Amino acid sequence: MSEFPVHPVPASFSDAHIDKARYQAMYQRSIAEPDAFWGEMAEEHLSWDALWHTVRAFDFSNGEAAWFSGGILNASVNCIDRHLPARADQTAFIWEGDDPNDSAHISYAQLKTEVCKLANALRSRGVKKGDRVCIYMPMVPEAAYAMLACARIGAIHSVVFGGFSPEALKDRILDSDCQTVITADEGVRGGKPIPLKANTDKALAACPGVHTCLVVKRTGGQIDWHSGRDQWYHELTGVAAGDCEPEPMDAEDPLFILYTSGSTGKPKGVLHTTGGYLLQATMTFKYTFDYRNNEVFWCTADVGWVTGHTYIVYGPLSNGATSLMFEGVPTYPDAGRCWEVVDKHQVATFYTAPTAIRALHAVGDEPVTRSSRASLRLLGSVGEPINPEAWEWYYRVVGDSRCPIVDTWWQTETGGQMITPLPGATDLKPGSATLPFFGVELALLNEDGSEIEGPGAGYLVIKSSWPSQIRTVYGDHQRLIDTYFSHYDGYYFTGDGATRDEDGYYWITGRVDDVLNVSGHRMGTAEVESALVLHDDIAEAAVVGYPHDIKGQGIYAYVTPMAGVTPSDSLRDELVQLCVAEIGPIAKPDVIQWAPGLPKTRSGKIMRRILRKIAENELENLGDTSTLADPGVVQDLIDNRSS
Ligand code: WTA
Repeated sequence: MSEFPVHPVPASFSDAHIDKARYQAMYQRSIAEPDAFWGEMAEEHLSWDALWHTVRAFDFSNGEAAWFSGGILNASVNCIDRHLPARADQTAFIWEGDDPNDSAHISYAQLKTEVCKLANALRSRGVKKGDRVCIYMPMVPEAAYAMLACARIGAIHSVVFGGFSPEALKDRILDSDCQTVITADEGVRGGKPIPLKANTDKALAACPGVHTCLVVKRTGGQIDWHSGRDQWYHELTGVAAGDCEPEPMDAEDPLFILYTSGSTGKPKGVLHTTGGYLLQATMTFKYTFDYRNNEVFWCTADVGWVTGHTYIVYGPLSNGATSLMFEGVPTYPDAGRCWEVVDKHQVATFYTAPTAIRALHAVGDEPVTRSSRASLRLLGSVGEPINPEAWEWYYRVVGDSRCPIVDTWWQTETGGQMITPLPGATDLKPGSATLPFFGVELALLNEDGSEIEGPGAGYLVIKSSWPSQIRTVYGDHQRLIDTYFSHYDGYYFTGDGATRDEDGYYWITGRVDDVLNVSGHRMGTAEVESALVLHDDIAEAAVVGYPHDIKGQGIYAYVTPMAGVTPSDSLRDELVQLCVAEIGPIAKPDVIQWAPGLPKTRSGKIMRRILRKIAENELENLGDTSTLADPGVVQDLIDNRSS
């Protein structure tokens, strides 16, 4: 699969939680006796007020799954209260600000008080179990307090990434009918302010159902104020009690909604429930990162993405770990920032996305090698396939050839890691996410739905339920069935392609649907197309991904102007701005090619396969174009290809 050498488990991991024999034994038992295995795991890893009556029940024909039904627990208690006897003074969060001179330590005891105050403040505004609360925040501790305060009172949080536009925020607030929003006056990234409250005001102009907007004062910048609706976070929490009775939650009560992109235009509200999600978060954090007491763990994701949910907040805290939250960007003040932070806070595990690794690699070794990094024990990768060259650089330069790399494959819908090495158990192959986590039954399918045995390449599917399986698409269960359970009967369809080698290792090759992965951010091609065609001068648009050195994938847009419109640079700029306004800066097309016509079948379907090949500059390899309504279109696109 790769000419790069295998990296065996290093001696420094010989006392890991899970070694080779234990992985084999536990994995086999998790498949052969799932009820017994998961029942034991749930008792060992979580604190319950009452145990369940049924470990698991699922039916892939209607997309239903339930884990630990009847079991009663509260996620905030599992993340905070249960650690207080032993860890009240231990740091729960290290916050590292955008400015290298700003940082803070928050102990578990302080976390408890902050979360309870906010939980009480939310209750004072009428928020109760089952209500949806939108969180649109910068990377400050209050973002985590907000998630945990919701969990404490049984409200369902819906975190919206702070880089999304007012329009995208509005859609998400309306879709899940959030009546409360928690935001900040401004965020700060790379020294620049981000107008979160102004964005929220724009979104809320079209959300009459929102009765409360809580505002964290982060910068003190100038903002508008809507009295009645807007409340200062510090004022409301300032008068609230520091103790708050947790809401008893059934394991199957919802914990959060998180929007993600699919192949159709509208983002989906992925719903996760309490018990199963928390168990997967807790176990994967402990075993994949081989977490040891008192270590500092740093996941660089934003809390607006699932990686931030599971590996900044729920997984680390449920294990009583110290989790580092970073407000800034890896290149500010310069490209050495991450490694300075590693040294400053003695980080043991660093978990990031391949796009960041590639960007830092491109700057060269010096910003890395001028730091010590002696505290590092383990490195992680998530979000997109990592090319073996980037893997080797990460291993050799960042990890000084002594830290294993866990390349973890999973999705918003899976809630936690699904394919991953365990550092004490798995020999590493650069570029491979390696082997399934406990209880994960994988298969590769041919186009016709038959299972591939042994080595081969196909569609990656999952054969049975896992605890943190997506429970529904909020408000649209049929969409869950159509998206994940209808492609192949009896399987969860991941949307990814993969190969399996002779050792049973999985190598994810990327999405096989119309979902892009740009710098680790998931985006539907249809979302970008819908934004482009909002412009009055545009008749049609087709968007595909193409390989991009740093971003993994770039956005390549073919755009057909209306008859009589002459394409211009200013029209191009307007289109880029439209994508920023509708979605956010992450959706800026890298390439816009004017296309007088798009390749379509006689029934009018755009042949994206051809557009992808042209974008990738694989012109010899266009495949069959004979079914096109007008094959001449293709030559025109090739002649006018933007490079
Ligand atoms: C991709 C992020 C290769 C994959 C946790 C998946 C990966 C999508 C990996 C989910 C990996 C994630 N190797 N590809 N280690 N991790 N992906 O929902 O295409 O933002 O389907 O979840 O990212 O993206 P999402």
